[in-house]
Amino acid sequence: MKFFVDTADVAEIADLAATGLLDGVTTNPSLIAKSGRKFLDVIAEICALVPGPVSAEVTATDTATMLKEAAVLRKIAANVAIKLPLTWDGLKACKALSDDGATVNVTLCFSANQALLAAKAGAAYVSPFIGRLDDQGQDGMELIQEIKDIYDNYPDLETEILAASIRHPIHVMQAALIGADVATVPPAVLRQLVKHPLTDKGLEAFLADWKKTGQSIL
Ligand code: G3P
Repeated sequence: MKFFVDTADVAEIADLAATGLLDGVTTNPSLIAKSGRKFLDVIAEICALVPGPVSAEVTATDTATMLKEAAVLRKIAANVAIKLPLTWDGLKACKALSDDGATVNVTLCFSANQALLAAKAGAAYVSPFIGRLDDQGQDGMELIQEIKDIYDNYPDLETEILAASIRHPIHVMQAALIGADVATVPPAVLRQLVKHPLTDKGLEAFLADWKKTGQSIL
């Protein structure tokens, strides 16, 4: 499973990229607003930090303007992925951009049929929003399973399932069990993945015993 981090916080991305475990980054207009910085500058900085795809979302709602915005975003760096909303206009832009060799991430996916359309439009990634479905009393993980089953039925569909709106480590584990290709994870949740109290306790005991030996490896 690939790990993307879902943030526009460049310092966080730099820190996480240093682990070597980061395969890409996703941003959205809300995350850009939260950063308080200029969109194009932030995307350029992230693209220089992470070799993998960096999703930058268009803000137009009609295909023609989406394509103009995408042209600007694509000029920033070769690893920019154009993020488009799951609307007819977004799908039309997806088809045109994918045919032109762009990497497209179709976002705001809340149904298996929407994911099927994104795949037919040539999207490199589709982003089902797990947490937002959970928030309204549905099981977001069921959607990941449905999309996985449908895509597996049609091996010619090459779109990767990018599990998004992840809120906690169990979401990551469940998405991995189903076989989602990618999880885009908020930095705090990514950091939580390594945590286990027995790991901390075990390490503490090993180090205490090691100290008793009076030895040093170096
Ligand atoms: O980037 C899209 C998605 O991950 C947003 O998550 O927590 O705002 O639902 P959230």
